[in-house]
Amino acid sequence: MSKKISRRRFAKGSAAVALASLLPQRIVADASNTQKVVIHGDSEAGIVRPEFHGQFAEHLGSCVYGGLWVGKSSPIPNVDGYRKAAIDYLAALGIPVLRWPGGCFADDYHWRDGIGPASKRSRRVNIHWGGYVEDNSFGTHEFIGLCRKIGAEPYLAGNVGSGSPEELRDWIEYCNYPSGSTLSDERAANGSPEPFRVRYWGVGNESWGCGGNMRPEEYADAYRRFTVYMREFEGTKPFLIASGPNGNDERWTRPFMEGLRWERPDGISMHYYSGGRNPATKFTVEEMKKQLSSFALIEKSVIQQRALLDGFQHGSEVGLIVDEWGVWDQMDPKEEEHYGRLWQQSTMRSAVAAGLGLNLFNRQADKLYMCNIAQMVNVLQSLLLTDGPEGQHCVRTTTYYAYELFKPHRSKTSLRVETSDSSPLSLSVSASKNDQDLVVSFVNPQHDADLEVDCALRNLSVSEGSARILHDNDFNAYNGFDNPERVTPKPHPVTVEESRVRLELPRLSVATVTLRRKA
Ligand code: AHR
Repeated sequence: MSKKISRRRFAKGSAAVALASLLPQRIVADASNTQKVVIHGDSEAGIVRPEFHGQFAEHLGSCVYGGLWVGKSSPIPNVDGYRKAAIDYLAALGIPVLRWPGGCFADDYHWRDGIGPASKRSRRVNIHWGGYVEDNSFGTHEFIGLCRKIGAEPYLAGNVGSGSPEELRDWIEYCNYPSGSTLSDERAANGSPEPFRVRYWGVGNESWGCGGNMRPEEYADAYRRFTVYMREFEGTKPFLIASGPNGNDERWTRPFMEGLRWERPDGISMHYYSGGRNPATKFTVEEMKKQLSSFALIEKSVIQQRALLDGFQHGSEVGLIVDEWGVWDQMDPKEEEHYGRLWQQSTMRSAVAAGLGLNLFNRQADKLYMCNIAQMVNVLQSLLLTDGPEGQHCVRTTTYYAYELFKPHRSKTSLRVETSDSSPLSLSVSASKNDQDLVVSFVNPQHDADLEVDCALRNLSVSEGSARILHDNDFNAYNGFDNPERVTPKPHPVTVEESRVRLELPRLSVATVTLRRKA
């Protein structure tokens, strides 16, 4: 019989005891570089929701304009105005959910600016990201079209900071009401007779900062007022996502929750970036170690924020969303000028960071609802990079390939894993199963130690398996425009016995082993 870890049971215990019991369990270490791992086939920890692999795209730098949207008359190969290479790569990976239009931009975005004939759309200054004039040629219809092309569920971040309840209410009616109201007929006249049926709605973004500089009590008032008018139309019930803490800031989450009465958001959005004080391709060992160590803190934050929410009556129904995460390195002004604001290269180090994040989301699957890395193209830790908004090149980054390696976990059941070392930069492991397969991902974040992994399977037996690995000895290695396939996943040897799996895991690597379960 399966043993499930109950969130409720955790919430009742003391924070310290609970934290210890829910962080990945450890077993006794081996003196050599052999890392012992135990996977417990009968100890389940929730479903790995595909939404843990969600994405975020903001009107920032060359993420939307130039990265995703080049316009129909562009010399860059495009499909209906979308950059063809980007669409092809993203569709191949499968993007479960896409959040738009911000970020900070969301609380200064007025959706009516982005509908109707492109020549008549308002031109507004993007006050957050460079003060350029935004022509709004990419608006709601273009966003929904993008989501349909890459198979993503749309997630619209509403404007609370500078908008009104009426404006947000109308956006929902415009998107979701089938026909017969002035707004739904306007949508049809703009080319989309079918409702968009958007489920995910953000109620502001970073309301403690660029989304209005509010106090948590103030935001709770705003949340209550705005959400009264955010309604279900013809079976599309909005899933309301409140603006959550910056990192593990309980001083935001607690007073916000206390400021609600019976209202409970469907989700709460936590943002947790992993800063780095070096340019992306020039990291030092020390800076890399600091940055990669932050993932242990993210895991702790997930556990503590979850416990905090569970402590409120019906708080356990609030889905915890890591809505913006990823590495945020020191920007290179020349690259920003050439390629766009917050354009950042993705290196082997970034792929390891992605692997550490995705592993922790798997391990804490029962506490999470969705996780969206920032951002999908050309901004921060992106899946794709182009050589500027007008550049013809589009490369899949090391982060793209880390996501590809984790794709087999989607929709499987997460399993409890024990490892022999508890330090933040030790071997990171997660496992998930369905009736046919067991999938295990390993990340070695160390720059100077190759590991031998000896993994025992308890209450599980397997017959065969294969592994793929993403690895480069140089943590600053990346997929450049002149060398776009420098770091890509390769087949990797693995020894599979009935209840034992062994493989070598070189320094700085991310590997996934897919095993066929015995009936
Ligand atoms: O992703 C870049 C910015 O980081 C977003 O606009 C904001 O939400 C966060 O501070």
